[in-house]
Amino acid sequence: MSDLALTILSALDKTGQIVDSRKAFPDVPSEQIQAAVTSLAAKSMVTYKTEEKDLWVLTAEAEDIVANGSHEMRLFEEVVKSLEGLKIADVGKVLGASGKLGQQRAFKNGWVKKDGDKLVKGVEAKPEDTTAEELKTIKETGTLADAKELADLKKRKLVTKTKLISFEIAKGPEFALTIKKLETDLTIDMVQSGAWKTAEFKPYNFAAEGTNPLAGALHPLNKVREEFRQIFFSMGFTEMPTAQYVDSGFWNFDALFVPQQHPARDLQDTFYLKDPVVADEPEDKTYWKNVRAAHEGGAYDSLGYRYPWKAEESKRLVLRTHTTAISGAMLHKLAQDPKPARYFSIDRVFRNEAVDATHLAEFHQVEGVVADYNLTLGDLIGFMERFFAKMGVHELRFKAAYNPYTEPSMEIFGWHQGLGKWVEIGNSGMFRPEMLEAMGLPKDMRVHGWGLSLERPTMIKYGVSNIRELLGHKVSLDFIESNPAVRLDEDLV
Ligand SMILES: *[C@@H]1O[C@H](CO)[C@@H](O)[C@H](O)[C@H]1NC(C)=O
Ligand SMILES: *[C@@H]1O[C@H](CO)[C@@H](O)[C@H](O)[C@H]1NC(C)=O
Repeated sequence: MSDLALTILSALDKTGQIVDSRKAFPDVPSEQIQAAVTSLAAKSMVTYKTEEKDLWVLTAEAEDIVANGSHEMRLFEEVVKSLEGLKIADVGKVLGASGKLGQQRAFKNGWVKKDGDKLVKGVEAKPEDTTAEELKTIKETGTLADAKELADLKKRKLVTKTKLISFEIAKGPEFALTIKKLETDLTIDMVQSGAWKTAEFKPYNFAAEGTNPLAGALHPLNKVREEFRQIFFSMGFTEMPTAQYVDSGFWNFDALFVPQQHPARDLQDTFYLKDPVVADEPEDKTYWKNVRAAHEGGAYDSLGYRYPWKAEESKRLVLRTHTTAISGAMLHKLAQDPKPARYFSIDRVFRNEAVDATHLAEFHQVEGVVADYNLTLGDLIGFMERFFAKMGVHELRFKAAYNPYTEPSMEIFGWHQGLGKWVEIGNSGMFRPEMLEAMGLPKDMRVHGWGLSLERPTMIKYGVSNIRELLGHKVSLDFIESNPAVRLDEDLV
């Protein structure tokens, strides 16, 4: 127990009561007094009341004025001393920084006036230094009766307001001059020796707050991801197995009817593996041949791209540029036993892009595909409206776009309530027959696909403007620990 607590007890013993702790212990900060009295009060040794009031205190400049006179008075005295008048040009030399301030106020008060390039007395008798007097009063009493003057002094940065906390302390029922150490735990020793019978226990503090447990925290991206997963599950989707970052050019591009000379396949856009460089050929040789035919000579009522398709190119290993590589493989599997299906995935993809505030070389793609007989573009639009409504986006617009593997393709725009404008929220389309029929899916089975990034809605949701603060080595762990839970609602996209 602190010496301060003992000092308080002994003061109470002498005087019976401490009316104002600040007067009794002028040099002790009020937080220390508070700590001592609350701990004594917990043992019922004292009772106390807290009193708060506003107190005005002087700044360093004001202390100087109280000790040495106001700037205006210092100037007046210099002018009196100089007999001939004080050259205006010399004010700074004689009084330093104080001179300029003093000159303004001395003019205003009429204490000095100009005579050519000199300052001369404006009044005969030495005036009363009201500024210094008022500050003296504040120093002694903590306030000033004249509220207007007080406000003026505050504006001149001579006084500041603080809260004054003092305590009125009295003896409590358990008052004593020494402080008993209360037991906090019942120990085996106490039970064996019988000491528990006489021991005094500290009362249980039900109001105490627990310490924050040190535990892991979900990254914001994972929180938003979980919300998306729940939306997909609620609409009957199955999650695709996306736990592979590397795929062959075949699955990432060729199977999706992306021609081998497409710019997306350039080194500048896609990361190619150095070791190993190529994958094995796909096991399904018929499919392999069908894809080649669709690209090269045309098939399934399509002219194809009509270029020499190279097997080597399709075996090159890449860091997948989209999760559609997995969707393609899943649809190929579905073709073994075609029936309506709904798949989704949310996982990482890689693009060889210049890194800036909104782009990284890797990001997460949210993707959904729906396979069913005789689906139409109208079905896709209707489905998008239901899907995005679950995220709180109720107004959609569609714009025709181009994708190598979907036709028709549409960019999706949503009305953002918070931003008050249309924002692009995703991309969608009907997978091409060149892609689906090569897999062996029946002609009347159609597949919708759409995708969006996970980062964009997360950045909007958590107010992050630089993606590097969300993902990568610059992310503050504090941000991850303290960010709130998320519910997808109006301001998400
Ligand atoms: C009063 O003026 C003297 C001399 O300029 C200075 O040393 C002292 O600090 C001043 N007093 C206060 C309280 O600022
Ligand atoms: C799809 O439409 C075609 C042509 O209208 C029809 O012959 C076929 O039965 C439909 N398939 C299904 C599964 O409804």
